[in-house]
Amino acid sequence: EEDPPALAVPQAGQEGLTLLRRVGVVDPASLDDYRANGGYTALRHAFALGPAGVIREVTDSGLVGRGGAAFPTGRKWQATASRPEQPHHLVCNADESEPGTFKDRVLMEGDPYSLVEAMTIAAYAIGAHRGHLYLRGEYPRALARMEHAVAQARARGFLGADVLGQGFAFDIEIRRGAGAYICGEETALFNSIEGYRGEPRSKPPFPVEQGLFGRPTVENNVETLVNVLPILTMGAPAYAAIGTERSTGPKLFCVSGSVDRPGVYELPFGATLGELLQLAGVRENLRAVLLGGAAGGFVRPDELGIPLTFEGTREAGTTLGSGVVMAFDDSVPLPELLLRIARFFRDESCGQCVPCRVGTVRQEEALHRIVARTGADAAGDVALLREVGRAMRDASICGLGQTAWNAVESAIDRLGAYR
Ligand code: NAI
Ligand code: SF4
Repeated sequence: EEDPPALAVPQAGQEGLTLLRRVGVVDPASLDDYRANGGYTALRHAFALGPAGVIREVTDSGLVGRGGAAFPTGRKWQATASRPEQPHHLVCNADESEPGTFKDRVLMEGDPYSLVEAMTIAAYAIGAHRGHLYLRGEYPRALARMEHAVAQARARGFLGADVLGQGFAFDIEIRRGAGAYICGEETALFNSIEGYRGEPRSKPPFPVEQGLFGRPTVENNVETLVNVLPILTMGAPAYAAIGTERSTGPKLFCVSGSVDRPGVYELPFGATLGELLQLAGVRENLRAVLLGGAAGGFVRPDELGIPLTFEGTREAGTTLGSGVVMAFDDSVPLPELLLRIARFFRDESCGQCVPCRVGTVRQEEALHRIVARTGADAAGDVALLREVGRAMRDASICGLGQTAWNAVESAIDRLGAYR
């Protein structure tokens, strides 16, 4: 464990937390400590409810995916549970790679057994006996802690042929990513596990019907799964009362950049961007905030009233994504920042489809000309960026190409870059 610990979690141990309540409190190596702090009560509730009852609770809770796309989790589980083809698979996507996202890392490093328990519940609900945890290669500490937690759970009968003597067999296999951003795309991740190149597949068919090894598969993000624990312990109605009507529950936000206290913050949906930034110690000379990561968009300092909900950010013409909030003060040169984002997408494009393979290169070239002032005509390059961006958004196979122009577009339209 030589990597530096995860960024500070300013609220660890504070009252009123749900997802982070054990982080910084329990010994992440101790199954007994986990149980002494409420661990494995949710799984007992699950066995009492039965698979259909668990899916009903998750559906009624209003939980939607926390990886960035906000798809209803209960619908996903129901779709796989009802497929006749066997076996069913559960995949936990822990390939957290969106720039500025580090919430799943904090959960896995600080409370690893919660993910083991949550995966067991999800597998029970959808009728899977095999769980695959695909963990980002650059997270050695999270890997070590998850490996230890899985081994301990197995040794103590919380995983294995007969989980807690309930006649349900389930085990978890951990796979380590090798550093490619695209392997976090759910179908590229399947290819990676299956031993093929990490290239996205066309959807549909969706993974709930044909996923890992062509079988019905539920793939959920770490934070999504961990939410299932409070849903089962407090009950769907109490959980759904947290947050807003259309964005229920608590949410983890990753705050970084020009703030005094960067870290992971847990807030109920509905707090405003400004309130979150106040907690993190925002500076006077704020110039812009990147919401939702590199695939998200910039907002201005006069837009801090935006509510941090899926519907609120959508109405404001931006996105919550995976909960990235990156603040930039006026010492940060915006054109260089945009060039860096463009370089990231060019680097990480898998090259499978033309709009993204060529478009990310053209985008970077145009931004480079603007930054270096070597182009004859900056307005012409902005027009070119729009044209290339539209082609990438409309014609790329996967989310990488479809969103590779979002940040640059928002910088031009909302921040007035290059004017
Ligand atoms: P998507 O909208 O295509 O799918 C979201 C989920 O819903 C997927 O699991 C998909 O299989 C499922 N789904 C969608 N329609 C369905 C249907 N009709 N039936 C059954 N299942 C269905 O979005 P995608 O491409 O999976 O994710 C994009 C998001 O990922 C972006 O919002 C981005 O913010 C986020 N992202 C997060 C990263 C991270 O590190 N957390 C990294 C990169 C992107
Ligand atoms: Fe690969 Fe980009 Fe096409 Fe996605 S959009 S499949 S990353 S080339």
